[in-house]
Amino acid sequence: RTIDDLGDLSGKRVLLRSDLNVPLDDSGAITDDGRVRASVPTIKVLTERGARVIVCAHLGRPKGEPEAKYSLKPVGERLGELLGSPVAFAQDTVGDSAQAVVDSLEDGQVALLENLRFNPGETAKSADDRAAFADQLASLADVFVSDGFGVVHREQASVYDVAERLPQAAGGLVITEVEVLQQLTKPRRPYAVVLGGAKVSDKLGVIENLLKTADMLLIGGGMAFTFLAAQGHEVGKSLLEQDQVATVKGYLADAENRGVDIVLPVDVVAADAFSADADHDVVPADRIPADRMGLDIGPESARLFADKVRSARTVFWNGPMGAFEMAPYADGTKVLAQALVEATADGAVTVVGGGDSAAAVRALGFPEDGFTHISTGGGASLEYLEGKTLPGLAVLED
Ligand code: 3PG
Repeated sequence: RTIDDLGDLSGKRVLLRSDLNVPLDDSGAITDDGRVRASVPTIKVLTERGARVIVCAHLGRPKGEPEAKYSLKPVGERLGELLGSPVAFAQDTVGDSAQAVVDSLEDGQVALLENLRFNPGETAKSADDRAAFADQLASLADVFVSDGFGVVHREQASVYDVAERLPQAAGGLVITEVEVLQQLTKPRRPYAVVLGGAKVSDKLGVIENLLKTADMLLIGGGMAFTFLAAQGHEVGKSLLEQDQVATVKGYLADAENRGVDIVLPVDVVAADAFSADADHDVVPADRIPADRMGLDIGPESARLFADKVRSARTVFWNGPMGAFEMAPYADGTKVLAQALVEATADGAVTVVGGGDSAAAVRALGFPEDGFTHISTGGGASLEYLEGKTLPGLAVLED
């Protein structure tokens, strides 16, 4: 069901689950507002139809009680700027004060509730433990719109249980994200998948599934060192998940059997410490000195990865190639992003899968329209590509 299926929304109270989980710096300033911007079109559709929009979202992982550093207040301010009209902020998620803010809304106005995860009922494991909170949330509204694609893999009160309690529909962002990710399950070939980021263990399920669909798997970032170790190379002080080496050996064998081209870095930028001013140089990937750690793929690897990406007709990229937040280790991620932009211009479908890689392309100054799609989902897009059932989508289909 889409918003159109909800009928006349004029004067209706719409509870809208968005994903506003953005990174903040130590001073509480938003460092990447991509998810806030992505939430705006659906809010506008609702306000233009005269709805009273009650946005609810989470920030970070507080432990079921209020913590000032996880307040959504600064996010509400940014949302107001982007919408061009103020957003009323409810200091609580539910209860009398939230109700008072909702009651004060006029048609076409927007309120944001405080961080849902300040309430233990949001993330409780059992539906029974989430029920009271879900009831309270549902009581604030007449209908529910699910637009937080980044959280649809979570079986949580505001994502799952509320959808069972109110007439509901998927918002435009959720629909777009699913349509784009669906294309990746039947990709135009060659299909290249680029994985980076710190941990192999975060991506085990998706690697297993991608070996069945991708033609090439390019591995960079911190996780590359576990692959290099599985090939028998010394990785010095680089990030290594020793307990995953055997699993990765299995992937390498599986890839060979299936004819999937696994591409690993041939050189790396190796530093003597995890810092921007550490002594660093480029070394072959199979000769990383014992006292150095790889913090980016090297220039030759970046060229190799870029050539592969440009030869592909479909590209999915998740995870930066290095510690891009520090200038000396940003080049691998930059060269790769540029190759995706060129592939897009050449007609390929390119999808940047959420989280750090989405933040990286924006932080490095690449235009969003240089890619077919930049997903707002990190874990959600990976779980979708793993072929898992995502509770927040399944509940909308019921
Ligand atoms: C994300 O950042 O991927 C989503 O907002 C979900 O957050 P979570 O991993 O804390 O549930």
